[in-house]
Amino acid sequence: MERKERIGILTGGGDCPGLNAAIRATAKTAIQAGYEVIGIRDGWEGLLYDKNEILDNIKTSEIIDRGGTILGTSRFSPFQIEGGPQLVFGEFKKLGLESLVVLGGDGTLSITSRLFKMGLPVIGIPKTIDNDVKETDYTIGFQTAVQIATDALDRLRSTAESHHRVMLLEVMGRHAGWIATYAGMANGADAILIPEIPLDEEKMEELCRMVKARSKRGRKFSIIVVAEGTKLEGQTIKRSSDITKNEKADRFGDIGKTIGKIIEEKTDLETRVSSLDYIQRGGTPVAYDRNLATTFGVRAVELIKEKKYGEMTALKGNRITSVPLEKVADGIKTVNLNVYRIAKIFFG
Ligand code: F6P
Repeated sequence: MERKERIGILTGGGDCPGLNAAIRATAKTAIQAGYEVIGIRDGWEGLLYDKNEILDNIKTSEIIDRGGTILGTSRFSPFQIEGGPQLVFGEFKKLGLESLVVLGGDGTLSITSRLFKMGLPVIGIPKTIDNDVKETDYTIGFQTAVQIATDALDRLRSTAESHHRVMLLEVMGRHAGWIATYAGMANGADAILIPEIPLDEEKMEELCRMVKARSKRGRKFSIIVVAEGTKLEGQTIKRSSDITKNEKADRFGDIGKTIGKIIEEKTDLETRVSSLDYIQRGGTPVAYDRNLATTFGVRAVELIKEKKYGEMTALKGNRITSVPLEKVADGIKTVNLNVYRIAKIFFG
């Protein structure tokens, strides 16, 4: 019997809600089209160290609502070891793959773009709660993280009002403040602090004046959301994502703690800091992310059937399309400051 063409799927980088919905859609669509699907475990590491399994309809059923990735992931790059790329090509051939679908954020997709330029037939699917992949309006996982952060801000608002406190919530977003901007806008936060707008002394003073003014006019509480990558000029803040594994205990809210301390000292108002950390990256995806993941998975298989490799699925407006991987390989998508300006109308 003629052997079926084989498609590989791998998930690399940080996990996020919606990955399993994308794995499900890619695998089921490929199986329907007559392909055999191989799941590569733990990102690029799994390809190098022969960690894989056949994904059939059973294994990819009942996972659309499951958080994380059934394949596992890692931040390993083949370019970090001698001869790594050559090993990728060797393992790719040994597995008898025709093509490989890679679900990743900006880092993983940059690796994928480099391997494509070396001849690997790949398709990228953008996922990350940070939403900082270029050339797509949204990435899988982002809307779920925004919902989790918004729910947290709503809860903080009630306790802040009861105790007349300033409450800060630190959210993820190493280099781009998309989660902070969208969750802050959805909550009606009094201030949103993001990496794109460094906090200099004047901005810090302005923030304290706003909090004080609210208190004076009887709004004796404030809600401030801060992205972990926010830069406080003059301070070298160790970002939560830069903390090494043995420092994990201090992972919570470095930038949040630092800003909270300054506010409390300058305004003499009770201030508390919370951090969502990995909670915003876990658990079941919201419907939006399930459907974005599903449509990206279907589009990825269409691109494979057209042999249009080196592309990444993308959302532009309400259209599911694709863009060359090389256009997303360098740099990230930072917050659209027009959106931030809308949120800012309601600060304070
Ligand atoms: O890349 C997504 C992300 O969740 C960032 O927002 C966060 O800073 C980073 O991953 C944390 O990385 P790790 O899971 O390796 O600690």
